[in-house]
Amino acid sequence: MKIIVINGPNLNLLGKREPQIYGSETFEDYFKKLQGNFNDLELSYFQSNIEGEIIDKLHEVGFTYDGIILNAAAYTHTSIGIGDAVKGIETPVVELHISNVHAREEFRHHSYIAANAKGVIFGFGLKGYELAIQSFL
Ligand code: DQA
Repeated sequence: MKIIVINGPNLNLLGKREPQIYGSETFEDYFKKLQGNFNDLELSYFQSNIEGEIIDKLHEVGFTYDGIILNAAAYTHTSIGIGDAVKGIETPVVELHISNVHAREEFRHHSYIAANAKGVIFGFGLKGYELAIQSFL
């Protein structure tokens, strides 16, 4: 089973960025543990700060992979292009946010992705990625 995690802008700073919201672990360290916990899966990881690169990756994997876990970060709230890409591919997408976006600023309450996602997970910290994987099993 092939599952990919796609992380959007500023998530390369996890561990350093606003640790009171996002925690103090880097995604690379967390991802190694995740791979260890699900070693029978083909689990990969892609991060980009560039909207078009995220869209290109969705196109690349979106007809062959079994699942996509997408934390589009700030683009969630702004990008019709990423929303349209999620709509246009066949692989189911779980939208994910580390923080509880609904307990934060109003502009984080809207998502251009959610309507075409298989489901949405938010507010469980990095553990959300594990929950998202389980949702595909
Ligand atoms: C985030 C929430 C977004 O509102 C924010 O722009 C992010 C991270 C999260 O994982 O909680 O960069 O997607």
